[in-house]
Amino acid sequence: MSVIVAGIERDGYVVVDHALPLALSQDLLGQLMQLDPDGFKLAGIGRDLEFQRDVNIRNDRILWLDDQSKISQQYFAWTEQLRLSLNGHFFLGLFEYECMYAHYPQDAFYLKHLDSFHSGTNRKISTILYLNHDWQKTDGGELLLYRPDDPNPFEVISPEFGKLVVFLSEDFPHEVLPAKRSRYSLTGWFKVNQGI
Ligand code: OGA
Ligand code: MN
Repeated sequence: MSVIVAGIERDGYVVVDHALPLALSQDLLGQLMQLDPDGFKLAGIGRDLEFQRDVNIRNDRILWLDDQSKISQQYFAWTEQLRLSLNGHFFLGLFEYECMYAHYPQDAFYLKHLDSFHSGTNRKISTILYLNHDWQKTDGGELLLYRPDDPNPFEVISPEFGKLVVFLSEDFPHEVLPAKRSRYSLTGWFKVNQGI
């Protein structure tokens, strides 16, 4: 937790190998593999009202996590500790965490975007946990992080098993490159309460 908080404080983002207990990452992958891939929905863009499916922007499949299984509960217990650490340090007033499994089939991608939406930026911190064993550089599927004023990415992240990326949702445009094989992750957001 302290590595994550320190990284956010210094750089606004952090990449940590094996941030979660190995057994928990394994269980999260096991749970994902038991889910029916057909249960994954084509991901939408934007908030409910402006919900649209634009496969020109992203074509991953997603499945929101609820807290019904023991494994999900363990993960939410871990994110709750992280939420408390972040709030204790930055006074962000993070009040909620939501997350989803994402499956990028071969050649799927997500073009450059921000996780906070224009119509109500209540996503403050993004987390991405990668669940791909034996990922090779040649498999592609990198996450590219950008600064708002620079067209070139400053960070290229390979989605290797157990790697966790955490960043300030409003500060870093990012993009997912196509991969040569299925690419799995658990992606989530700490949100502030903005009403509406
Ligand atoms: C997202 C996203 C990045 C990744 O789901 O918003 O940017 O590496 N995912 O999976
Ligand atoms: Mn994103």
